Amino acid sequence: MSNKITLTIDGTEIEASENATIQQVLESINKPAPIICAHEVTTSEGLCRQCVVEVEGWRVLAPACVTKVNPGMVIFTDSEKVNRSRRTILEMLNASVDLSESPELQSQMDEFGADRERFPQAKTRQQDVKDDNPFFVRDYEKCLMCWRCVQACGDDIQYTYSISVGGRGFESKISTFFDTPMPETTCVFCGNCVAVCPTNALKSKTEFFMDQGLDYDAIRREKRAEKKKMGGGK
Ligand code: SF4
Ligand code: FES
Repeated sequence: MSNKITLTIDGTEIEASENATIQQVLESINKPAPIICAHEVTTSEGLCRQCVVEVEGWRVLAPACVTKVNPGMVIFTDSEKVNRSRRTILEMLNASVDLSESPELQSQMDEFGADRERFPQAKTRQQDVKDDNPFFVRDYEKCLMCWRCVQACGDDIQYTYSISVGGRGFESKISTFFDTPMPETTCVFCGNCVAVCPTNALKSKTEFFMDQGLDYDAIRREKRAEKKKMGGGK
């Protein structure tokens, strides 16, 4: 059993367990910080910084999903600094990544008053849609590199390790090893990566076909033909 400590959040004294992260404490008081890279089924790595809070006496903002609480900590979740940081992250992401199919991110942009046109000259991450299997498509123009799919495919859920990060800097992207088509990787098409993707960069084939206006029978025919081509299924 872990010991209890006391800290202050937005002026209210809170008791929390000493091993908790700031986000766990915020969730316990119904004030969760907004998240992008974190997810309840994946390990938080502190990649996106959208969950930052201000801690009195700290030089930089603290990512709530990976920062442990300390006794006597004084935390502000709604300061100008915090909100400006969250807004800017959203504006930068929106400038280079297609977030049009992410209700989660769209609602955060509304909440923090993000200017969707703030960086009109930003370079976008143009890539072709990868449609190489009967189960899901990969549209990495919508990928914000949150890493959730890589974690779901790896140690957090499936242990298949068919996807990872390739390239460097701005050219870095989620990919299979040597960009091999998905059916030739270790992928078992469990769908866990699709389930955790916040932007629809990974989309089920059914949804993909529905977007194109196909009806249920046509989708079934298409998927059956694709499975046959891949060498199995009915
Ligand atoms: S494909 Fe989706 S889950 Fe994977 S890193 Fe990109 S946005 Fe995140
Ligand atoms: S949600 Fe905490 S750093 Fe991404």
